[in-house]
Amino acid sequence: MARVPVKIVSWDEIVDWSRGLAFKIKESGFKPDLVVAVSRGGFVPARLICDFLDVTDLLSVQSQHWVEAAKAAEKAILRHPYKIDASGMKVLIVDDIVDTGDTLKLARDFVEKEWSPDEVRTAALQWISPVAKFKPDYYYIEVKEWTWFQYPWTRLEDTMQFIKRIFTEDERVKSRTVSEAELKNLFAEWYGVKPEDLGFYWDLALKALVEKGVLELVDEGYRLKTK
Ligand code: ADE
Repeated sequence: MARVPVKIVSWDEIVDWSRGLAFKIKESGFKPDLVVAVSRGGFVPARLICDFLDVTDLLSVQSQHWVEAAKAAEKAILRHPYKIDASGMKVLIVDDIVDTGDTLKLARDFVEKEWSPDEVRTAALQWISPVAKFKPDYYYIEVKEWTWFQYPWTRLEDTMQFIKRIFTEDERVKSRTVSEAELKNLFAEWYGVKPEDLGFYWDLALKALVEKGVLELVDEGYRLKTK
C-alpha cells in the first residue's frame, strides 16, 4: 500500500469529466450567465465548462491556504478580493476538487455576499465525500477514499513535492545520497505510481529541485542540500 495514494489524471480524463459535469448542470436546467473559476485549480475545468455550456463570461477568484500562527490547521483566504456588480446574474463557481471543502465554500460565500448575484451554485469535477465539509451543488465523481489526484496542470509542482517529501520524511534516506534507481523505487513505494508514468516531468522535477537548491547532484546520486 502506498503511503500517499496518487492517481495520475490525464488530459483526456479532464475533458471527459468536464463534459460530464457540464451535462449534469445543463440537465438540471441551470444556465449560468457567469462562470467563476477558483484559481488556480478551477481554471481548466471552468474554461471547458464555458465551452460545453456556451458561456462567454469567465472570471476567477484566487484562494490561498496559509498556516495560522501557532496552529497546525490551514486556513483558506482569498487573495486580491475585488468587487463587481453581478446583480441579475446566475453565477457558477467551479473548482477541480472539493477535498476539505474550505476553498469552494469561501469562494461561494464571498461571491454571494460581495457580488450580489441573483443565484450562486458550485461545481467541481470531484468531491471527496468522506472528508469534505461542503458538498458542491454539482460534481462529476464522488471519491470515497482519499487520494491525491495528480492533475495535468500541476505535474511539475507535484512531482517536485513528492520527491522532496521522500528526502525529508523517509527515515531510511534522510541525510544520505540516493541513486536515481533507488529514488525511483522509493517513489513507486510512496505514491503507488511509477516515475515512468510521469513522462518528461520526472527529469524536469529533479533538475528543478537541484536548481532551487533543495537537492544536490553528486556522483552517486541525489541528496538533500544542507544550507
Ligand atoms: N487539492 C486539494 N486536495 C486535493 C486532492 N486530493 N488531489 C488533488 N488536488 C487537491
